[in-house]
Amino acid sequence: MQIIKTPAELNAYAAKVKSEGKTVGLVPTMGYLHEGHKSLIRKSSEQNDVTIVSVFVNPTQFGPSEDLETYPRDLERDKAAAEQAGADVIFHPEPEDMYPKRYGTYVSVDSGITKILCGKTRPGHFRGVATVVTKLFNISMADRAYFGQKDAQQLAVIMRMVSDLNMNIEIVPCPIVREADGLAMSSRNTYLSAEERSQALSLSAALKQAEDAIKNGRTNLDKIKRGIRDKISEAPLADIEYVESVTFPELEPCGGQLDRKTLIALAVRFGTTRLIDNIIVSPNQEG
Ligand code: PAF
Repeated sequence: MQIIKTPAELNAYAAKVKSEGKTVGLVPTMGYLHEGHKSLIRKSSEQNDVTIVSVFVNPTQFGPSEDLETYPRDLERDKAAAEQAGADVIFHPEPEDMYPKRYGTYVSVDSGITKILCGKTRPGHFRGVATVVTKLFNISMADRAYFGQKDAQQLAVIMRMVSDLNMNIEIVPCPIVREADGLAMSSRNTYLSAEERSQALSLSAALKQAEDAIKNGRTNLDKIKRGIRDKISEAPLADIEYVESVTFPELEPCGGQLDRKTLIALAVRFGTTRLIDNIIVSPNQEG
């Protein structure tokens, strides 16, 4: 597995690979790889000749009071995990290579889907994500890019961007990967104390309860969301930011009844750690 450090080197590598008629899969990450990332890498290496994993903690998607400085970083561990999952290249640029002096171009998905859910408390976050993802698509010349459904709003924003800007890339959504006890995998889980981690299980438990209720025919979304809030509130350390339902992937308001493909998403703080999780459901539970 190769480690490539600069956009110019990766672009030259990708151009050569493409000139040989090979396909390129891109797995964009901020590193500290876990089983969720590894599932994306495995999927990409099944579907493409070459898999590039970017490991870049993107400064433009962090707000001023967020965890840019403390975000976990361990390139040696990431190299081993990426190689084991089937990556051919790790792209690990420095911030100044991605955003050199006089950098001034940003991609902003302004349709409203970036203003709801996480966008309410993280202004500018999706602009940073859309910008870096566009740059990564261009540099890697990828045919396909792989994103986890855990960041369902991010996935929807990227799908919208790709469609709006006629980008020639296939976005491959991949299911949430959970720990054995249900906690959705996230690099930020490492911030949780033992007590917070134990109480954070209320998130997946609440979503599972909602999913079961839907399977049993419940369609009243207000009651479903109330049930989720009640279950999470049993954890004394949980501070709920939102529990919302919107259509997926359009992220439009849905009425009170579950009558189409719907994202039920939540964000909850445990101390200074903000966790997100979600389910995508349909009245007949085809998801
Ligand atoms: O999901 C993430 O890890 C990041 O938002 C991404 C897509 C790698 C962009 O920095």
